[in-house]
Amino acid sequence: MKITFLGHASLLIETKGTRIVVDPFITPNPKAANIDIESLRPDVLLLTHAHGDHVADVETLAAGKEVLIVSNFEITTYFGQKNCKGHGMNIGGKFTFDWGTVKMVNALHSSAFPDGTYGGNPAGFVLWNEEGCVYIAGDTALTKDMELIAESCPSLDLAVLPIGDNFTMGYEDAVHASDYVGCDRVLGYHFDTFEVIAIDKAKAKEVFGSAGKELALLDIGESLEV
Ligand code: NI
Ligand code: MN
Repeated sequence: MKITFLGHASLLIETKGTRIVVDPFITPNPKAANIDIESLRPDVLLLTHAHGDHVADVETLAAGKEVLIVSNFEITTYFGQKNCKGHGMNIGGKFTFDWGTVKMVNALHSSAFPDGTYGGNPAGFVLWNEEGCVYIAGDTALTKDMELIAESCPSLDLAVLPIGDNFTMGYEDAVHASDYVGCDRVLGYHFDTFEVIAIDKAKAKEVFGSAGKELALLDIGESLEV
């Protein structure tokens, strides 16, 4: 499983010959100018919630194409009206696709589209197949519900956690989240895009390191393997 950071909370996951893009916010992000949206060619979009910084490029990538949007029912319905294909789910449910099993898990946040349409409940995803198991937290506060992930999913190889604070948990809380989900290997995201979520990256790595954990922070376009 190869995971490429596309900036902010956007990821490209390549697994079992399938290209999965998470929360595409690329063309509005000047920091992601090195990412060519045409090169992404996703088969699947995983969308955690309806905020603009998570869905900005959905129609560009999926409208009128054979791209499957996996998200909550409100979000797949919304994009269904914009000529996108969807597989609607809800919190606590899992479904096995030919490229992996997805479980939609709780996130403590909000979810409305930029046009004001109700976007259902925000979520995270646990994605697993024979190549590995990854938790993508989405935008969330630290919540004890994260312990349910350790209790109800295969053991995680990587936890992708927001660390930018202000809109989500910050990196200090993300250390606790890493404990709750039972995974010491963390990829940080949702930081530095905007001034209010700018972080001291060396300090964040130090806080993880002193807890015996690894915090990976990728440059935009850089990848890691699970
Ligand atoms: Ni959000
Ligand atoms: Mn966000």
